[in-house]
Amino acid sequence: MLFQVNMLTTKINLIFLIILSTLMPVIVSGAPNDQSRWDKYYDIEGFLYGIEPIPFLKDNINLLPKNKALDLAMGEGRNGVYLATQGFDVLGLDISPIGLNKAKQRANHLNTKIETRVVDLENYQLEKNSYDLVICTYYMNRGLFGQIKDSLRPGGMVLIETFNTDFLKYSRFPQKYLLKRNELLEIFKEFKIIRYQTYDDGKEAFSSIIAQKPEL
Ligand SMILES: C[S@@+](CC[C@H](N)C(=O)[O-])C[C@H]1O[C@@H](n2cnc3c(N)ncnc32)[C@H](O)[C@@H]1O
Repeated sequence: MLFQVNMLTTKINLIFLIILSTLMPVIVSGAPNDQSRWDKYYDIEGFLYGIEPIPFLKDNINLLPKNKALDLAMGEGRNGVYLATQGFDVLGLDISPIGLNKAKQRANHLNTKIETRVVDLENYQLEKNSYDLVICTYYMNRGLFGQIKDSLRPGGMVLIETFNTDFLKYSRFPQKYLLKRNELLEIFKEFKIIRYQTYDDGKEAFSSIIAQKPEL
């Protein structure tokens, strides 16, 4: 009888393991795919997005609070490393270890330092009330906007730039990753808008914002 009960338990465990093993690839599929895809893009001699920061960051650098900065989806660090050279204390997050290694090496090369962390931003909690500046360029994850607001200290600023729906005139692109008309203004409507632009040069189209979290 005891032997039969043990056999039954073993059978149930086995069935549970089989079900779990078929479900696992579904549960964890997103992140490793994104990681290997981006690692492959970045595994090249030069820099996929170049080494220059985006003009919107460089042009407005003097408006930004120079203290603790977070670069979301930092990639190879064109913006985050630039911030470090300007005296910001930078943490960069990205899913690609290869991209982040390149960013670190570039920072070393420029005699500056950045901290980096490999994370999946689709399953990650930003530290609250911790940063004076959060930047996020060309990584569109609407789930992050609320977290970005919470992660800023009062008076801190956010800088975001990414493609908008006008970009569809020039390229095929998944609609869900494009900013809608005035979307950034709407998302940060309780913030003070410091700079906002929509850009369209006949080849690409994007929107950019710098907004400041209200003081308490
Ligand atoms: C178009 S690149 C932009 C990189 C950088 N912000 C820039 O402007 O140069 C998009 C970045 O998002 C990162 N990424 C994609 N999915 C991610 C995820 N789930 N979590 C964290 N980073 C991710 C990629 O590794 C890549 O570096």
